[in-house]
Amino acid sequence: MLAGKFIVVGVTGGIAAYKACELVSSLSKRGATVQVVMTEHATHFVQPLTFQTLSGRPVIYDLFQPQTGSKVEHVDLGAQADLIAVVPATANVIGKLAHGIADDFLTTLVLAANGQVLVAPAMNSRMYRHQAVQANLNQLRALGYWVVLPEEGVLACGEEGVGRLADPQTILKEIEAVLVKSRDWAGVNLLVTAGGTREAIDPVRFIGNRSSGKMGYAIARAALQRGATVCLVTGPSAIVPPPCHRLVRVETAEEMYRAVLNEFASADVVIKAAAVADFRPKVQAPAKIKKDERETLVLELERTPDILSELGRQKDRQILVGFAAESDNLIDHARSKIRSKNLDLVVANQIGKEGVGFDSDTNEVSIISSEGLVKTIPLAPKTQIAHQILDEVMQLPQFKKLRDDMAR
Ligand code: PMT
Repeated sequence: MLAGKFIVVGVTGGIAAYKACELVSSLSKRGATVQVVMTEHATHFVQPLTFQTLSGRPVIYDLFQPQTGSKVEHVDLGAQADLIAVVPATANVIGKLAHGIADDFLTTLVLAANGQVLVAPAMNSRMYRHQAVQANLNQLRALGYWVVLPEEGVLACGEEGVGRLADPQTILKEIEAVLVKSRDWAGVNLLVTAGGTREAIDPVRFIGNRSSGKMGYAIARAALQRGATVCLVTGPSAIVPPPCHRLVRVETAEEMYRAVLNEFASADVVIKAAAVADFRPKVQAPAKIKKDERETLVLELERTPDILSELGRQKDRQILVGFAAESDNLIDHARSKIRSKNLDLVVANQIGKEGVGFDSDTNEVSIISSEGLVKTIPLAPKTQIAHQILDEVMQLPQFKKLRDDMAR
């Protein structure tokens, strides 16, 4: 399945560099053209000649010693590569990639990449768990890079813990999955909502919620990686949105309602990860409400429009995926949303559980279909949960029909 693929394996300076030999050999045996690029530090661990023999191509490790005869080697390679796999990736190189530092051939090449980038970290477990390294890995995920998590076990330093390079066969499978996934949503128009809404009480105060936008942004980014045309309708969020085809910023439930209905006709799939206010102040004070001598303040609230229910009423061909944030009876409540809002899938997350739901980098979800099937995805980064939600949407007969209609 890798025949015709051009894969760059970037080897950085860690003891796990020797494991990249098995990966290069396996990729070549599966028909890929493999170009190995090493950092200067990596050449202290494994001789370039080893990789040259396994890949059948001269290894590049010096920015100023071209090997391929192209005019600007890092730019040309970056444009040609279907995928660049940095295996192993040291804390140093992860930090550089996260911050756009390009001071050798490999880091320069990754900045010039046109295709997918996959990073497989390997290091001591204290280094791996360090906040700086974790923040850098999150930044790589936010850039749309694929991270293959390291394994637990005895490390080269003699300590035990997480940080051992993932097995080369696991990395190989990830590479194959990335190359397949990088096309499987091509041609699909996806509408995603993300973040929380804000309902003004007066010019300075509002009723809001703790949604950060991370879940919805992760879905939008995953779909972009897989070739979808993405429209993102987002409430206020502190994080940078992915480079979608259309980005609509809204503040209130009413604005989100109008924006979503405006985009609905051209959407094939809608995923509503936004946390929309169910109620808003009936009257918005025109000036800042003063404390004066008051001990209490009563606000009268009214219902906001239920966007998802309206989409459920209007849908003809669209696949509709809702979220359910519940603090009890997760599955039962989620099931009733499928029926009452005419959904195809609902993604349920339990509120109040550590690392789940609002404002965390991770989530744990149960995905329920209108047939009643439940799939539970255990705690994982939202970037991974996003891909699994897209995988589940693809399993729906409605998605297969959509593909058939597109093929006609
Ligand atoms: O943004 P993050 O910090 O990453 O957090 C992610 C999340 C917790 C917000 C996300 O995973 C999630 O659960 N989103 C839905 C939150 C929510 O509002 O759930 P709900 O059970 O109240 O709403 C059910 C569904 O109806 C949702 O798809 C919601 O978008 C939709 N809805 C709700 C109210 C309304 N007026 N209109 C709607 O369309």
